[in-house]
Amino acid sequence: MNQCSDVFENVMELAKRRGFIWPTSECYGAVAGFIDYGPLGAMMKRRVENIWRDFYVVQEGYYEIECPTIAQEAVFIASGHVKGFSDKMCQCPHCREYLRADHVAEAGNIRNASILNNEDLSAAITSCTCLACGEILGSVEVFNFNLMFPTTIGPGSQRVGYLRPETAQGMFVDFSRLLRFYRDKLPFGAVQIGKSYRNEISPRQGMIRLREFTQAEAEIFVHPAEKNHHPSFQRYGEYRMPLLTWIRQQKCEDAVEMSMREAVDKGIIANEYVAYYVALTHELLVTIGIRPERLRFRQHLPDERAHYATDCWDAEVFSPRFGWVETVGIADRTDYDLNAHAAQSGTPMTVFIQYDVPKKTERRRIIPNMSVLGKQYRTKAKAIFAALEAATPTSAGASINIGEEKIHIPANLFEVRDEVVEIRGEDIIPHVIEPSYGIDRMCYAVLEQAYDEDIADGEKRIVMRLSPNVAPVQVAVFPLMSRDGLDVLAEKITQTFHKNGILAEYDDSGAIGRRYRRQDEIGTPFAVTIDYDTKDMDSVTLRDRDTMTQVRIPVADLIETVSALIKGRITFASLHS
Ligand code: GAP
Repeated sequence: MNQCSDVFENVMELAKRRGFIWPTSECYGAVAGFIDYGPLGAMMKRRVENIWRDFYVVQEGYYEIECPTIAQEAVFIASGHVKGFSDKMCQCPHCREYLRADHVAEAGNIRNASILNNEDLSAAITSCTCLACGEILGSVEVFNFNLMFPTTIGPGSQRVGYLRPETAQGMFVDFSRLLRFYRDKLPFGAVQIGKSYRNEISPRQGMIRLREFTQAEAEIFVHPAEKNHHPSFQRYGEYRMPLLTWIRQQKCEDAVEMSMREAVDKGIIANEYVAYYVALTHELLVTIGIRPERLRFRQHLPDERAHYATDCWDAEVFSPRFGWVETVGIADRTDYDLNAHAAQSGTPMTVFIQYDVPKKTERRRIIPNMSVLGKQYRTKAKAIFAALEAATPTSAGASINIGEEKIHIPANLFEVRDEVVEIRGEDIIPHVIEPSYGIDRMCYAVLEQAYDEDIADGEKRIVMRLSPNVAPVQVAVFPLMSRDGLDVLAEKITQTFHKNGILAEYDDSGAIGRRYRRQDEIGTPFAVTIDYDTKDMDSVTLRDRDTMTQVRIPVADLIETVSALIKGRITFASLHS
């Protein structure tokens, strides 16, 4: 039951008051686009990140690496960010605020604003209102603003660097070392969780659009011919979810539910690898507490796709305040990045693929008569030998070019030998499949969807229905009274939880109802109460946050039961039977 008119306001008020999220350096006046995670928020974020690690590092077997958040300019010249990583900006002539021109257009109901060029966008927004002051904009220039934060490396240095706008590039430039780590075999993957930076124009959407944010990205390197053969595709072949294809978007139709097998077979999703990570992302988001009915996967329109992608799907989560919010992007980046870094750095970024059975191929070799040609052509001889190797001779000889000079070499000065050679394999440039998660947007969605209000003991109760696996405090421990040894027993139980890696919070202050309310508000899923029966019967009551029901269980079973509840191995309802 959620009776709030604007859940965003309520969530943010609670988040600030209870220590999930608050504005950064507030005492100096907060700066838009930066937030602090407070004690509970930082713990919740860490739990979300660790669930991500369970999926990608433990289950998929892709090791995590950690690269610097600053990189030299060459990296971002190669990646295309120096030239092309910009948003379209305009300035309000009335209040002087800088605005994202496509956002102004979207707010003015102009369709496909993100794909208009600067001139068309400028013409389209003349009758739109400023998002800051509400005045009609009139004629304004639209120009590109690069979102990267530049810096210099070293004191007094002219060496340009940038704060990374995505974690991905670190994994591309490490390709050769990663390949060796994975013993020169495809497919393999590397993952990274860390901060990325974008100097967003006028961010005003709380945790959704930040200038410093956390990404969790996986770069999976695959043989281009194997993209339609994911080794574990059967795991998700029958997995169903709502897909909003680009064709349906063009026809203004809604998402349609489909299995991954069907989506690949019908050519809707480009290949099995992309479909596999679309499904895995769905499962991961549901695991952290996103409701399936608020989740859809939207395919990028052909002209919306990033310059490097052939197919791209966004996991979008519905927010009553912000509409459908892109939270994860899953792209087939092809060989774009490896090609670009190989060209910029001069380091080959290829994998040698050995054939199962070596291939036999015919080859014609031209063997020059070195002693005669050497004497005759002296300084030009080396160039002539090389040119002969590539020549197509006739029975009369071979015509070759050495610089501007055309030279005819008679047939008796070389031998043509046709041979069959064995080729063991070939060098290929892998393609990259990239699922890219925005951890802060995931955390916002988790908080927003958890917020609820109901009635308890005749009073309004605010309850964060966080999934037990992301709740910062996992169990509360209350002595019914802070005397008669109940407090000592409760402290002992709290310590046993801690020794078992469960974050338990001891609280003996105030009436028990108040203590429940405090924990409900921060989403603590379970509470243990130590009462007088505990002393006699060695048992405690265990309370479920969502149903507010209680069961009595032996102290000896407490750790195992709570641990199983947190991990979702059992349900609270099953304890009643
Ligand atoms: N390496 C690919 C990449 O960075 P992206 O779609 O630009 O792709 C991936 O970003 C995810 O990062 C997004 O889906 C979003 O969740 C998150 N993200 C991007 N910009 C953000 C911002 N300014 N604030 C918060 N999260 C952001």
